[in-house]
Amino acid sequence: MERLDKILAATGKWSRKDAKALVKAGRVKVEGQPPRGPEDKVAEGALVTVDGHPINTDKFVYIMLHKPDGVVSSTEDPRDETVLTLLPKELRRIGLFPVGRLDKDTEGLLLLTNDGQLAHRLLAPGKHVDKVYYTEVDGVLDPSDCQAFETGIVLGDGTECLPAELEILEDPGQALVTLREGKYHQVKRMLASRGKPVTYLKRLSMGPLKLDPILPPGRWRYLSDREKEELGL
Ligand code: URA
Repeated sequence: MERLDKILAATGKWSRKDAKALVKAGRVKVEGQPPRGPEDKVAEGALVTVDGHPINTDKFVYIMLHKPDGVVSSTEDPRDETVLTLLPKELRRIGLFPVGRLDKDTEGLLLLTNDGQLAHRLLAPGKHVDKVYYTEVDGVLDPSDCQAFETGIVLGDGTECLPAELEILEDPGQALVTLREGKYHQVKRMLASRGKPVTYLKRLSMGPLKLDPILPPGRWRYLSDREKEELGL
């Protein structure tokens, strides 16, 4: 349950003061009924309308973006286009941030939210959420690479990676990589350490969340109820 004026203000369209004024002016209805006042408690998911138009009453927003090549996954950047510029204006000022970064030239699944707790659950070290990437390399992958991933790769600077999975596809220059951590440039550095540099990288999944195959690069959509449930929301 949340106060009605707080729900209205959380949309970013009205200040708390304006929200109170809207309610007092009789322009707001909850489940079709006029509320008693701005401090009325409203149940999650209740239908709230302003001048007859429904507003989004969800506390947090969850978005799946198919990140294209060439945009950075930060919220601000002095030089490059950020992933936020791929969203409509009203979604750019509600505190959305990407859950885990992808390199500028990496494509694929990026979850954007303003729910810090979910981000923590998916990213905190020790949570070991599986992330699956499709990759293409310059070179030919072989079983010794799979073995090295399984044992745990040590990068050039001595950084030790957790055991990971490398599944070579029909073309031995292509593979699926499953990581349970997220170090800087990790897939690229792991494969570079095997002398097989990455030429293409795309994230396919993060925990239970899979990139929607019909979502083209650069496009986004809200997570479905089912996807939210799978993430424990
Ligand atoms: N590993 C990388 O090297 N780059 C990414 O963007 C993600 C994982």
